[in-house]
Amino acid sequence: MNSVKNVLLGVTGGIAAYRAPELVRLLRKSGIGVRVAMTKNAELFVTPMTLETVSERKVWRAGWQEQENPLIHLTESNDYDLALIAPATANFIGKLAGGIADDLLSTLVLALACPVYVAPAMNPRMYSNRAVVDNLDILKKRGFIVIPPEDGETACGEVGEGRLPQLPKLVEIVRHGLGLKSDLEGVKIVVTAGRTEEPLDPVRYLSNRSSGKMGLAIAAAAQGRGAEVILIHGIMSKRIPENIKSMPVRTAREMYSAVSNAFAGCDALVMTAAVADYRPAEIAPNKIKKKEGRRTIELTENPDILASMGQKKTKQIVIGFAAETENAVNNGRKKLLEKNADLICVNDVSRLNIGFDSDFNELTFVTKQSVRQSGKLAKRILAEKVLDIFVELTSEVKRTATGGNE
Ligand SMILES: Cc1cc2nc3c(=O)[nH]c(=O)nc-3n(C[C@H](O)[C@H](O)[C@H](O)COP(=O)(O)O)c2cc1C
Repeated sequence: MNSVKNVLLGVTGGIAAYRAPELVRLLRKSGIGVRVAMTKNAELFVTPMTLETVSERKVWRAGWQEQENPLIHLTESNDYDLALIAPATANFIGKLAGGIADDLLSTLVLALACPVYVAPAMNPRMYSNRAVVDNLDILKKRGFIVIPPEDGETACGEVGEGRLPQLPKLVEIVRHGLGLKSDLEGVKIVVTAGRTEEPLDPVRYLSNRSSGKMGLAIAAAAQGRGAEVILIHGIMSKRIPENIKSMPVRTAREMYSAVSNAFAGCDALVMTAAVADYRPAEIAPNKIKKKEGRRTIELTENPDILASMGQKKTKQIVIGFAAETENAVNNGRKKLLEKNADLICVNDVSRLNIGFDSDFNELTFVTKQSVRQSGKLAKRILAEKVLDIFVELTSEVKRTATGGNE
């Protein structure tokens, strides 16, 4: 019996169709067979030859005259475990809602026996248009599974809801829909993110420029890979999606106590939060008044959350982030030992176009066994790399525990 799951990927004519070949590649990399069916307009954005090459299967194009078998929409409609329309244009969504079958893909969908997932991707104004909203409601009522698009900058430059979700997330949704196990299923991960604020008086505080984007990317990626995630966060520059379980804190001490409480029951701690090393020794009960001459603020040390969890760890993998301006490798190694961590991800905060508040970063991954450079990558891709190293470290721990007999 063939145990490989087969997915029909419907590609329609939106700008995000350029991501379809990578989606095919990722689905196949995760062990899923993919057949692509595309609309005529999709061919304006991505070529059938590219999709045929990455899927290693003939691509079904819009017209019946292109197919060897004119009844392909009926004879092959039972061969799929799941269908995913990604990207799904406003037009195609309208056609599905109206039951229109005027090309191979739309006809095929009417004949499919498997669940159909629809990933809308379009300009935010189009996505919020009443016609699209109503059509998506109709699809949901009919049992289609609609994958909500992401909020952010779309290909047309407008910001809002309408972006095709990150591809690893789509792969996870498909894997979940197929009943396939994800590599972080059953794993509990505590992620910290954002910046802490240390009050000086009722209106002033000491803080830093961290946006929280890296931690958010890790939390989302881990959840996408099946982990149970809790995001303990300070102040964030980005909204936390509702589906991520989160706990807000303000100061380093609040973060310390939230992390301490969650740590015992977790398998991994990923500390991306920019925690203040020091806080004002005293918090003035009233706003500090302006006075002539210099003023001095006395600071006192905050608890070192990473070092403290490193000391307490039993089974947990402890991952820290270090912001450095020089000697990434040496400082990373030093921190790894001092904090008893398993992985330190060093980022060079002296670089202007990456790191703080950027969607990109470049990390040096330092473990006891290796030093790896990531190169400049989107934070969401770096998040996957951090989790890949976590998976590696976990299997090393398992190998050591079984004396290498696994
Ligand atoms: C450059 C360009 C980009 C487009 N991007 C999108 C898009 O992202 N989402 C969408 O719904 N329509 C988009 N459209 C409009 C669709 O291409 C158009 O509605 C087309 O009829 C869709 O055909 P299909 O649904 O049969 O593939 C775009 C059009 C152009 C010219």
